[in-house]
Amino acid sequence: MMNGKYHIQTYGCQMNVHESEKIAGILQARGFCSCDNVEDADIIVLNTCCVRETAETKVYGHLGRIKSQKKRGAILIVGGCMTQQAGAAERLAKRCPFVDIIVGTFNQSQIGEYIDLFLHTGKRVVDVWESEKDMSLSENTAAARTSGVNAWVNIMYGCNNFCTYCIVPYVRGRERCRPIDDILSDIDALLKSGYKQITLLGQNVNSYKYGDKTFTDLLKMAETDVKYRLKFMTSHPKDVSPTLAELFATSKVLSKSLHLPVQAGSNRILQAMNRHYTREQYLDKIATFREFVPDLGLSSDVMVGFPTETEDDFLQTLDLVEKVEYNNLFMFIYSRRSGTPADKMPQLDYKTKQQRIDRLIKRQFEISKRIAGNAVGKTVEILVSEKKGDRCFGKAQNDAAVAFDSKTAQIGDFVNVKITSAKNANLTGDIII
Ligand code: SAH
Ligand code: SF4
Ligand code: F3S
Repeated sequence: MMNGKYHIQTYGCQMNVHESEKIAGILQARGFCSCDNVEDADIIVLNTCCVRETAETKVYGHLGRIKSQKKRGAILIVGGCMTQQAGAAERLAKRCPFVDIIVGTFNQSQIGEYIDLFLHTGKRVVDVWESEKDMSLSENTAAARTSGVNAWVNIMYGCNNFCTYCIVPYVRGRERCRPIDDILSDIDALLKSGYKQITLLGQNVNSYKYGDKTFTDLLKMAETDVKYRLKFMTSHPKDVSPTLAELFATSKVLSKSLHLPVQAGSNRILQAMNRHYTREQYLDKIATFREFVPDLGLSSDVMVGFPTETEDDFLQTLDLVEKVEYNNLFMFIYSRRSGTPADKMPQLDYKTKQQRIDRLIKRQFEISKRIAGNAVGKTVEILVSEKKGDRCFGKAQNDAAVAFDSKTAQIGDFVNVKITSAKNANLTGDIII
């Protein structure tokens, strides 16, 4: 089995993408190497998500498809948020007897030991910890990074916000912040090894606190003379401050884009969601950010069909989306999550939810097209992240994706590109030498 191959399938958010890199690190330290095809893998890991029902359905569908891989002796491991829900690991163990190892989010660092145990005894391992025993466990093995010019760095784990629709606090536990020196030395090492972009990760990065250091202190301390882009996610509107807005204007490294999930445009729904801000406060904050940084790229998450949402509530969401003009919007149909307060509220019918999401998607499509059109003629700095032949791809500071041709530009280069055309939301341009 040593010198075997592993295949990791990741679902869910960036947090999970990075956690899969950590799992890959553990497997590589034990002599395994990565492979692209499930059919070639000796170890198959599914790193799951349960934020919406569709995420779970996908996992079960995938499990059904890879069941047959067991015949050739592959080890099947399921980890991630799905297994951490109350009773979920037991249900999964029963429904899928062919899964060999089941771990939760708090003990993913133990996967190596569980594989040893399984190989030794041949007995399946089902172990899901109720909470984290020691945060440093997950930092012990170097991550096997897969995300090109970008490197993810956790600054905190968990969430204390308990938005009424959300399962994350139940499966990721309470907020824990990493020591600031550990974060800064990670950033330093990553820049030295050539990464051009660092994305700080947490469910609510603005509430980062370590000793007397806050999130904006951390951002200031991450400034160096090395040219790179510093990004972070996710921000909570209740916690973003004018100090952060100002920092966008003054920092040499902060990329000029902000993901600020609004979720809904109606105050009644925002309150029922336990979001702790009103639409007016949200719009005020956006205005402050735009004052300091007129070219700030803005993105958001919006949900439709939250329990009790009326046509009028929904129209307020459409109106807010229209007012803000997000560069990018992630749109979801509310999905019931067992154990959350919203699950016990009066639910909307499927058809209403579906019609609302269709209307929202259509509206945002028009907005994205308009924004892309406005970019034509402007010159932007692109970090090249991909190259196929002479065709280069990368992102501007405001997170817009841009394609252009260049023989000389290389992955990891910062280049200036003049935008020449916009097809829907896709930008193309000419490199300026
Ligand atoms: N901590 C981050 C990410 C949370 S999960 C944040 O607060 O923004 C990412 C997104 O999934 C959320 O912003 C929300 O829009 C969506 N989401 C969470 N729970 C959901 C549910 N039950 N149904 C549908 N969408 C949900
Ligand atoms: Fe979920 Fe809200 Fe926490 Fe985000 S802030 S992870 S939406 S509970
Ligand atoms: Fe999903 Fe867990 Fe992320 S539930 S969205 S993978 S924190």
